[in-house]
Amino acid sequence: MEKRCAVLLAAGEGKRMGGRGSKVLCQVLFRPLIRWVYDNCAGAGIEDICVIVGKNSEDVLRELPQGTHTALQEQRLGTGHAVLQAKAFLEERRDWDVLVANGDAPFLFPRLIQGAWEAHRAGQNAMTVISARVEDPAGYGRILRDGEGVRAIVEERDADDAQKAVREINAGCCWFRGGDLLEALEELTPQNVQGELYLTDALGILREKGRRVGAWDAGDPRVVLGANDRRQLAGLNAIAREMVFDRLYDQGVDIPVTDGVMIDPRARIAPGARILPGTVIRGETAVGRDSVIGPNSWLEDSTLGEGCLIQASYILGSTLEDRVQIGPFSRVRPGCRIGAGVKIGNFVEVKNSVLGPGTKSAHLTYIGDADVGAGVNFGCGVCIANYDGVKKHRTTIGDGVFLGCNTNLIAPVKLGDGAYTAAGTTVTRDVPEDALCIGRPRQTVLPDRARDYRKPGK
Ligand code: UD1
Ligand code: CA
Repeated sequence: MEKRCAVLLAAGEGKRMGGRGSKVLCQVLFRPLIRWVYDNCAGAGIEDICVIVGKNSEDVLRELPQGTHTALQEQRLGTGHAVLQAKAFLEERRDWDVLVANGDAPFLFPRLIQGAWEAHRAGQNAMTVISARVEDPAGYGRILRDGEGVRAIVEERDADDAQKAVREINAGCCWFRGGDLLEALEELTPQNVQGELYLTDALGILREKGRRVGAWDAGDPRVVLGANDRRQLAGLNAIAREMVFDRLYDQGVDIPVTDGVMIDPRARIAPGARILPGTVIRGETAVGRDSVIGPNSWLEDSTLGEGCLIQASYILGSTLEDRVQIGPFSRVRPGCRIGAGVKIGNFVEVKNSVLGPGTKSAHLTYIGDADVGAGVNFGCGVCIANYDGVKKHRTTIGDGVFLGCNTNLIAPVKLGDGAYTAAGTTVTRDVPEDALCIGRPRQTVLPDRARDYRKPGK
C-alpha cells in the first residue's frame, strides 16, 4: 500500500463568526470543523496528518489527537503559502501521496477522499483536484477544462465573465504526489488580485511542466460547504442533522418529529428505538432496541441497553443495562453502571455509582459514590453524604436493603443485605444484615402547647 499523508489548512481567522477563536473551531453537531476534516482523513485511512495553524494554535491542537503534526503560518498569505509552512513535513514524504484539504469543510467524507485517491493513482496524476458542480459557484475557484483534461483553476476574483459562468468548482481538497507538490509550491507567485500564494495555481504549473493533472467530480455539491458566518454554520448543522436522521431512518430508528433533536453522527442507535423531540445525543453513545429517549433528554458518552425509557433527564458517561427507566427530571452523572430494570423517578441524582438490578429510587434522592446491590429501595429524600469536606468516601448497600424516607448515609458506611433504615435515620456506622437501624431523635408530644404559638384570638 502506498504511503499517504494529509496537510489540513486551518490558519484562517474567521472574523465574521463573531467569536475570538479560530473559524475551524466552530462546531457542527458538537464537533469542531477541523475535527470533522481530521476524522474524514482518518476514516479514509490517512493518519499521518499535519495541520497548518495560525493564532489560537493551542485551541486547535486541543481538539486533535496527540501526535498530530503542526506547522505555524504566522501571516495569512494564501493557501499555497499555508502549505509551504509544512515544507519540512513534506520533504520527509516526497514519495508519498499528499492530500491537502481546507480545514473548514466538514462534508468531504472518507469514501470521497478514497475515491479521488483511486482516480489520482489510476490516472498517474501529479495533482487531482476534487471538484463539485454547484448551482451557484460564486466565491469558489472554477475548474477550467479543455477537451478531456483540466487546464487550470481560476479563483473567483481573477476570473473573467466566461470563467465565472463555469459551475464546476474546486471543493477545496486536492491529492498530490509529494515531490510534485513541493516543486509546484516553489513556483507559486502572488500575481493575482489578492496578492496571495494560491495553492490552486499548482494545477496550471504542473500541467505546463507536462505532468498529468485531473479533476475528480465528487458528485455531491455538499462537499464544498463550509461556513464563513454564523448563518452558514447553522446551515451546516441543519444539513448534518438531516444526514444523521436519514441514516437512522434507513436503520429503522423512529424519530417521529425532529424538532430540537440533535444526534452526533458517532451515536449508534438500534432499530426500533424511538427518539422524541428536544433530545440531544452526544459523543460515543449507544442506544439499544426499543428504548425510548425523550422528550427533552440529553445522552452523552453513554451506553443504554434495550427497552430503556428516559424522560426529560440527563445521562452522562454511564452505562444503563436493559429496561432501565429514568425521569422525568433526573440526572445520571459520569461513572455510573445501572443494572437491568432499575427505576429512577423524578429529582434523583446518581453519580459514580453502581446500582444492582431492580433497584428503585422514585424521588428526591442523591446517590453518590455508592455500590448498591439488587432490589434496593430508596425512600423519598434519601441522601448519601459522600463528601466530608476534604475527601469523598464510598458507601456500600447490600441486596434488598430498604432505606426509609430521608435516610442520611454518612460515608464511608456499609449496610448488609436485607437491612432496613427507619425514616429520618442518619446512619453513621455499619448496619449488619437484616438489621433495622433507627437513628433519629425520639418524638416528644406536648399537649395543647401549639396554642402558645398562635396569635391570640386564633
Ligand atoms: C479556496 C480555494 C478555492 C476553493 C475554495 C473551496 C484557493 C486559492 N482557493 O478558496 O479554489 O473553491 O477554497 O472552499 O485555495 N487558509 C490558511 N492560510 C491562508 C489562507 C487560507 O490556513 O493563508 C485556510 C483557511 O483557514 C481555510 C482554507 O485554507 O480553512 C481555505 O481558505 P479560504 O480563505 O476559505 O479559501 P477560499 O478563498 O474560500
Ligand atoms: Ca472558504
